[in-house]
Amino acid sequence: QSRYLFPHHIVLAGFMGTGKTTVGRELAKMLAMDQIDIDKVIEDRTRMTIAQIFETHGEAYFRELEFKTVEEMSAHKNIIIFCSGGGTVLNEKNVDNLKKSGVIVWLKASPEIILERVRAENTRPLLQNGMTIEKIESILNPRMELYRNAADIAIDTDEKSIHEISLEIVERL
Ligand code: S3P
Repeated sequence: QSRYLFPHHIVLAGFMGTGKTTVGRELAKMLAMDQIDIDKVIEDRTRMTIAQIFETHGEAYFRELEFKTVEEMSAHKNIIIFCSGGGTVLNEKNVDNLKKSGVIVWLKASPEIILERVRAENTRPLLQNGMTIEKIESILNPRMELYRNAADIAIDTDEKSIHEISLEIVERL
């Protein structure tokens, strides 16, 4: 018996490199649900990458687009796997919108694992100027409380496969 009343979105939150998008894809397959990735929607609509948006218009402009997209997708008529961006929790209004729309699953990873994953991808504008553990901690540490407060469920992802993480989410819903 699920503790959460459905219909509800399943919202994936957490820092860059914690696997929101990949886990979201796996969950969508497992549960036969649609997945919507906020950053992907923004990229498709602007026809720019997140890095290009930061570079051309600055972070504040991106956060505005992020807010509008979160607001719109929170009210999506279908029940979706909803992948947020790592900084979505910075805006209290985003957290309110997400909380109202679904169960928030916080994917946690250690700075070491995050570094490995973001290094491999190398797409994050906030980590353009040097990817080090210190840099990651300087962004992650002040956000920890925001993730903790937003989360209904917290999942450690270190040393787990995408499939294991997805199964754990389903079990704990
Ligand atoms: C950001 C995380 C990114 C993206 C943007 C800002 C952040 O999303 O929204 O680069 O502030 O942590 P991912 O968590 O999907 O990398």
